[in-house]
Amino acid sequence: MSFDLQGFPADSEALATLSARGLAYRLVDTRDAAATDAWVQADFRGFHHARPRPIDLEFDRGMLADRRVHGVYDPTIADPAVPVATVSSWPTGLSVPGGRSVDAWAVSSVTVSPTHRRRGIARALMLAELQNARAAGAALAMLTATEATIYGRYGYAPAARSATVYVDRRRAHWVGPDAPGRVQFVDAASVREIAPALARRAVARTPGEIDRWPGLLDRVLGLHDPEGERSRSRRVVRYDDERGHPQGFAVFHVTREPNEPGVAEFDFFAAATDDAERALWRFLVEQDYVSGTRGLLRSVDEPLPWLLEDPRAITLTDVVDHLWLRVIDPVAALAARRYSTAGRLVIDVTDPVGIAAGRFELVVDDAGRAEVTAIDSAEAAASVKGARGIRLGVGELGAIYLGGVHPSVLARAGRISETSPRSIELADRMFASQRTPHLSIWF
Ligand SMILES: CC(C)(COP(=O)(O)OP(=O)(O)OC[C@H]1O[C@@H](n2cnc3c(N)ncnc32)[C@H](O)[C@@H]1OP(=O)(O)O)[C@@H](O)C(=O)NCCC(=O)NCCS
Repeated sequence: MSFDLQGFPADSEALATLSARGLAYRLVDTRDAAATDAWVQADFRGFHHARPRPIDLEFDRGMLADRRVHGVYDPTIADPAVPVATVSSWPTGLSVPGGRSVDAWAVSSVTVSPTHRRRGIARALMLAELQNARAAGAALAMLTATEATIYGRYGYAPAARSATVYVDRRRAHWVGPDAPGRVQFVDAASVREIAPALARRAVARTPGEIDRWPGLLDRVLGLHDPEGERSRSRRVVRYDDERGHPQGFAVFHVTREPNEPGVAEFDFFAAATDDAERALWRFLVEQDYVSGTRGLLRSVDEPLPWLLEDPRAITLTDVVDHLWLRVIDPVAALAARRYSTAGRLVIDVTDPVGIAAGRFELVVDDAGRAEVTAIDSAEAAASVKGARGIRLGVGELGAIYLGGVHPSVLARAGRISETSPRSIELADRMFASQRTPHLSIWF
C-alpha cells in the first residue's frame, strides 16, 4: 500500500467542527522539529508519562516522519504551540486468516488534554481518521485501546485478545520436542539488521499481527536509548535453525526484588517457525535464579501447556480485548482473507457513520478463496433471494473478521441475526480461523 502521508489536507469536517469551538485542527509537518516536539510533549502528557527527554524527542521525531500526525490547538491557552489533542496514524498490513495481509490503517496516540475533555474533540478526531483510512485505500482501521469503552461508538470492536502468561519456574518441566537448532545471546544491534525480515515472516503466521510500526524494533531492542536503565537491562536471544539461519528472537529482562529471585519477563517474541517458537519458549521458562517467567501480550491459545509436563505451571491473567478493528471497505476486507468452509452467505451490514453499510454476497470456493460482491441493484438482489444470510453492525463484522469471535456467540448476545435458518451456523464455519488471532504488540 503506497500512500503519501502528507498528500491531502486535514479532514474538512473535523476542521469545521473544531473551528466552531475555537480550536484549530492541523496536520503537523513532521519536518518542523519545534512543532513535532510540542506535539510529542502533549502525547506524553496525555498518556501520563514523564516529560520526554531530548533523546525521546529525537526518537519520536524520526518515528513520526512515517506517520500522518494531527494536533488540535487552542490559541487561548498559556502555551498555544502545544496541542490540546493528538492523534497519529499510518498504513500497514494486517495479517488475516490464510497468511495474506490486508491494507489497514493504524490509529495511535489518541489523547485529549484533561483541560479539554468531553467536548467532542476525540469524536472529531476519530471520525476524521475513518476518512483518512478511506483516503488511504485501507480496508480496515485498527487500534489498541487503553480503555474498552471508548471506540465502540465509532464502529471498532475487539477482534483479537491477548493475555499475560506466567510460568512457575519450579513446575516448568519441559516435555516438548527438542528444537534442532540453538538459542544464543546476541547483541541488539546485530538483531536489528535481520529483525524486519524475520518479524515479517513471524507476523504472517498469525492473523491479527501488523507488519509495520515505524520505530518499534528500535524501541523493543532498546536501541533508541542504549544507555537507559531499561535498555541496559534487556537481553536479546536469537534462535538459529540447524543450518544456522536465524528463525526467531526474543527480548527479555529479569526483574529484581531485594534478596528475592526475579521474574524473567519478555515483551517481544518473534518466531518464524514452530521450532523457533518452542526453542525460545523453552529458553525463557528454563531460567535459573528466577521464580518464574512472564510473557506479556501473549496469545490466549499458546502451545505452551502442551510442552510442559504440568500445564498448571501456567497462569493466564489480564485476558483482554487487544486489537480493535473497524471495517472501512467490506468488499476488500472480506475478499482478503481465506475461509474455512466453502459456502455462500449474504451479509447485511449497518453502519451509523455510513462508510461500510450495505449488502454483500460472499462466495467461498473449496480452497477457501472468496469472491465478494456488493449487492447494489435490484437484479443483484434478486439473484441472492433465498440465500443464507446474516445481519450485523459494522462493529460485529470487525469482531468476527479474523475468526477470533464466533458469529454464534454474537447471535446469542443478540448482536447478529440470520435471515434464513442455519445461516449463523454456516457463518461460524466459514469465518473460523485455523489459528487464533493474536496481536503481540501495542501500537
Ligand atoms: C479517551 C479520550 C481521548 C477521550 O477524549 P474526549 O475528547 O474527552 O472524548 P469526547 O468528548 O470526544 O467523547 C466522545 C464520546 O466518548 C465518550 N468517552 C470519551 N472518553 C471516554 C472514556 N475514557 N471512557 C468512556 N467513555 C468515554 C464520551 O462520553 C462521549 O460519549 P458520547 O459520544 O456517547 O457522548 C481522553 O479521555 C484521553 O485523552 N484519555 C487519556 C489517554 C487515552 O487513554 N487515550 C486513548 C488511547 S487508546
